[in-house]
Amino acid sequence: MSRLIVISNRVSTPRPRSAEGTQGGLAVALSAALREYRGLWFGWSGEMTETFTGQINLQRVDGVTTATIDLEEQDIDEYYNGYANRTLWPLFHYRIDLAEYDRSFGAGYERVNERFAETVAPLIEPDDLVWVHDYHLVPLGQQLRQRGLKNRIGFFLHIPWPPHRLMVSLPHHQRLVRSMLAYDLIGFQTAEWLESFHHYVQRELGGTVAADGTVTVGERTVRTAAFPIGIDAAEFESVMTTDAARDAFQTLRRSAEGKKVIIGVDRLDYSKGIEERFHGYRRFLEEHDDWRGRVSFLQIAPPSRGEVHTYEHIRDTLDALSGRINGAFAHVDWVPIRYVNQGYPRAGLAGFYRAADVALITPLRDGMNLVAKEFVAAQDSADPGVLILSRFAGAAHQMKDAILVNPYSKDEVSDAIVSALAMPLGERVRRWEGLIEAVRREDVLWWRRGFVQALAGERKLPIAPSPPIPANAA
Ligand code: F6P
Repeated sequence: MSRLIVISNRVSTPRPRSAEGTQGGLAVALSAALREYRGLWFGWSGEMTETFTGQINLQRVDGVTTATIDLEEQDIDEYYNGYANRTLWPLFHYRIDLAEYDRSFGAGYERVNERFAETVAPLIEPDDLVWVHDYHLVPLGQQLRQRGLKNRIGFFLHIPWPPHRLMVSLPHHQRLVRSMLAYDLIGFQTAEWLESFHHYVQRELGGTVAADGTVTVGERTVRTAAFPIGIDAAEFESVMTTDAARDAFQTLRRSAEGKKVIIGVDRLDYSKGIEERFHGYRRFLEEHDDWRGRVSFLQIAPPSRGEVHTYEHIRDTLDALSGRINGAFAHVDWVPIRYVNQGYPRAGLAGFYRAADVALITPLRDGMNLVAKEFVAAQDSADPGVLILSRFAGAAHQMKDAILVNPYSKDEVSDAIVSALAMPLGERVRRWEGLIEAVRREDVLWWRRGFVQALAGERKLPIAPSPPIPANAA
């Protein structure tokens, strides 16, 4: 059997299987794949070094080998904080108003991709399958080909692919997309992003797209498909039985003092729609004074990418907005929003999800959104909570039994909160059963096997794409 080489910007530090509860679901899934295929996981250590040396730090823990490199300050500024997170991230989340185009970012991005290729290429054997992840490493496949690699190389994009008309606002967009033709397989989270990629290839590169998703541009053919990522549902449901999850459940229920609990959990990012969500919640409080004092909204938002100024800005905005809403509506014995800038281990989150009556997950644009799936997996089947989900999250394609909302509409968010809080038990159970069935069936193992088997040529494409979301969910 071929080995599997996973390459991503960040590498999750290997932990013994007994301590996996502290790792993210994707990291656990990729670690399992690496154990099965005896492969290795290559990427940036997250550390800075004075001068780039390409020195590889190899670690082996519980059957998983990781190989990491440190980057120098200029690389981190131009590649990670620059092109990846100030150019591609906003553009790919449809925020061309926030995208910054700076020649040095593009040069740094190319340089780091070359450095990745140069360092990892000698570790790759001729039969290995190579799986490159995400927007940080779009041109890596081409860089590896230039170093003579003939292996099967696949690329999976964890975030959305923007519509053609937005994509062309990126300077040298053709150069970036043409570099992707070096892959054998390109995976997207949903049929919608896949379709946007196809449009781009047809209109900008004069390419053709066959019914099975094979893209042809000149001499090159690449297979493309949607592979929606899932969670390890079985493992997440078992996390619910741990003491840490039970303690978190009790803590939140006790502190809610009999009130209904609404929860939101997101990395602090403008794409998550937290500002718009707060406005929607405010509208709900304004228009439904009977609910004041009877509901508690917990928003957990650990800060991220603090060196990028748009992230500083969203943080300031949310600090001010949560303060204004609390100032306007709070009583001595009731605070409308509890806004927490701290991350929690998965077991703690599982307990919080279980304790919540409603999850308010309203990104403006999101590749998938695994919080929505974790919330569903954490529920009590006899008395499940209600999921309110943005129709612009990739997860909405598979989760049509959620209350789907337009996150930009304060009224829609407010109405959805009212419906969720008032929803009778029978309807909650019916919706939850529809949701959990897909969360369990299309889990992370299904995702990983689907991609790797397609890359290895053992599976035909496309893999049953989810039907589109109806034009108007309201
Ligand atoms: O969604 C894209 C992504 O790279 C995720 O895979 C990851 O969880 C998140 O962004 C974290 O971003 P960063 O590595 O910049 O902290």
